[in-house]
Amino acid sequence: MSNSVIASPLHPLRIGKHIARYPIVQGAMAVRVSGANLAGAVANAGGVGVIATLGIGLDSPYFDRRKRQSFFTANKLALIDELAKARYISPDGIIGVNILVATKDYSVLAQTAAAEGANLIITAAGLPLSLPTYIADYPDVALMPTVANVDDAKYLCQTWQSRYHRLPDALIVENCQMIGGHFSQCEQANTPGFSVATVISQLREYLTTHIGVMIPLIVSGGICDRHDIEKMMQIGANGVQIGTRFITTQECDADIRYKVRHLQANITDIVTVPSPVGKPSRALSNLFTEKVTANASTLERRCIANCLEVCLCRDKGKTYCLLQALSQAARGDIENGLIFSGTNIGKTEQIISVAELMAEFTR
Ligand SMILES: Cc1cc2nc3c(=O)[nH]c(=O)nc-3n(C[C@H](O)[C@H](O)[C@H](O)COP(=O)(O)O)c2cc1C
Repeated sequence: MSNSVIASPLHPLRIGKHIARYPIVQGAMAVRVSGANLAGAVANAGGVGVIATLGIGLDSPYFDRRKRQSFFTANKLALIDELAKARYISPDGIIGVNILVATKDYSVLAQTAAAEGANLIITAAGLPLSLPTYIADYPDVALMPTVANVDDAKYLCQTWQSRYHRLPDALIVENCQMIGGHFSQCEQANTPGFSVATVISQLREYLTTHIGVMIPLIVSGGICDRHDIEKMMQIGANGVQIGTRFITTQECDADIRYKVRHLQANITDIVTVPSPVGKPSRALSNLFTEKVTANASTLERRCIANCLEVCLCRDKGKTYCLLQALSQAARGDIENGLIFSGTNIGKTEQIISVAELMAEFTR
């Protein structure tokens, strides 16, 4: 650890009615990179374990590729299975489910997660303006939307307060300059000198002055070690969300070839490619990203499940099927699939257990 930041004990993180021993949320990673094994192990080690729902049913026995309409049922059933498995691995840990607002089955997956015992729901890729209605029967389920800027957070808080008389239990603030996977084209990226620290301080100021409630703020993106965690605490965050670093763990649900590719990668491998959701995404370069960048005619463009509310793959035939690309990489075809990754890479030499990684973060 650098001398410039002095480690102090990490405080537990309260999210709604749940308290994690450590203020570390494991980032959701699709498709089935963060499934029950990873989420259960992180929850056991005192963090918040998170199951990614995007495409969760794709490689499940419930999905018949010849019948596209079976996809949404498969997603629901696969989520029930994964939640049960994660709970078996970690009976008392905090287990969350990540759902993209942009997916067609977002409301069904939110209801399913709540009914099947998830402790919290994290949303991304859109503002979850109606989320409280879906989980109204489950008051213990905490809600943690992801935001990229202060205006989105304000709009969300105001809408929830006026419609539902409730607020988010925590907010995840994405550092769009470093985060793995999709990122928002926000002022952090476009305004010189602007940073996630500015967003945190402006958001804290707004929440204190106008809302009068302490909502935990969790920074996500580029956090690799204890030094980075300390830096985020010093800019006023209450916790961190870490994705990429958990890929090179034994319990990560991806294929070993995917983990090894991450192990061997360095910063020069990071590229930004367009995604069918209409946002840029951060990934490791490979044959697939070369094809996307070149808009090559050999790029597989077939839509598998019609899963997103708005998808450039389906609507304009311009890009590729996100589910297929992410799943293919995670199942081990690391040249022909999409390998999401954050920028903070190349700092780990071997695959270790989640318990070892959490010990490294927290000691
Ligand atoms: C392989 C991979 C897949 C991801 N999939 C999702 C996802 O399905 N939903 C989501 O909200 N974020 C997703 N993310 C973002 C992570 O949840 C997390 O916010 C991010 O990885 C944090 O940045 P870091 O990777 O620099 O730690 C993904 C990131 C990666 C690296």
